Formats: sequence, structure tokens, C-alpha cells
Amino acid sequence: MMQERLQLLFSREQIEQRIRELAELISADYTGRHVAIVGVLKGCFVFLADLIRHLNVDITVDFVQVASYGSRRETAGACTLVKDLGIDIDGRDVLIIEDIIDTGLTLSNLIADLRVRAPASIRVCALLNKQARRRVAVAVDYVGFEVEDVFVVGCGLDFSERYRGLPGIYALLPDEPA
Ligand code: PRP
Repeated sequence: MMQERLQLLFSREQIEQRIRELAELISADYTGRHVAIVGVLKGCFVFLADLIRHLNVDITVDFVQVASYGSRRETAGACTLVKDLGIDIDGRDVLIIEDIIDTGLTLSNLIADLRVRAPASIRVCALLNKQARRRVAVAVDYVGFEVEDVFVVGCGLDFSERYRGLPGIYALLPDEPA
């Protein structure tokens, strides 16, 4: 069995501080508006729960879940939703919440899908951005932290469904030989 070890990238305190800063920016940008928050399951749920408790604007919260083929979606194209929105976003200001943007394929497909529904605006807020892995250009309006091309877990992010509950964000590394 492969051994692995965790290396701390961002502590709970750093994450909380950054989330407060993001919430201030978002609250300022959406002053007086009612934001339709769209979380992308599953990874978003920890970040989303933290973020919305610091927002100073009216919000509606709903979730989508995108079909995952194998470990990653490999092509840009139609977005298959395992779980669709339960709210109508026609004319609404939509803020998509992601834990991480990697190749950008999930997000670009999702945005194309949501645009058809005629929202007033779509913006994106991601806790982590892995720019080095990008395959399609996507605008990410609010980014918590940039990360190198390492496998990250914690704060909602998993490895084979493990580690989502870790309060910090960690790089998952192969264990060093004894
Ligand atoms: C992660 C993340 C994004 C997507 C980003 O989800 O939450 O939705 O991958 O990758 P991309 O930019 O290369 O498309 P994942 O498939 O790990 O599912 P999960 O959120 O249920 O863990």
C-alpha cells in the first residue's frame, strides 16, 4: 500500500483570514444586490459554508454536481450535471463557488451551461487556483490562494474521498523511503 504524508500549505488561521478578505471584496462588489450562490459539489461545501457566514449581502444558496468521468473530466464540451440547480437563475447575479480550479474544464463547461439560462452575471470564487494545470482559459474573479502543481487535500478537498475534513490545506506527498 502506498504511504503518503501531508505537508501543511495553509493553516486554518491563514484560511480563515483569507476567507474574511474574500468576503469583504465580494460584499463590496455586490452591495445592495441579491446573489445566487452556486456551489459545485462536493469539494465546495467547507469553503462555501465558511464564506457565506462572512458575507454582508443577501444570498440564495444552491448546489450543482458535475459528472466526473474517472478521476478527471478530460475534454471541454457539454456539462453533465448529476445534480442540477433547484432555483431559476434567469436575471440573477450568480456567484459560482469552487474549492479548486485545475484544468478549468469543469468550470468552463459549467459556465457555458449556466449562461444558457440567462443570468444577469456570472462570477467565480475559488479557494484554490492551480494555474500551472490550466487547459482552457477561465476567468476566476476571486481566488483564495494560488497553489503549485501538487496534489492538495483538506478544507473540502479529497484524495479518494479522504481528508475533506482537515481544517488546513495540505500537499499530499509520497512518503520518503526509510
Ligand atoms: C474538483 C473541483 C472542481 C474540479 C476542478 O472536483 O472541485 O470541480 O475538480 O478540476 P478541473 O479544473 O480540472 O476541471 P472533483 O472532480 O475532485 O470532485 P469533488 O469536488 O466531488 O471532490
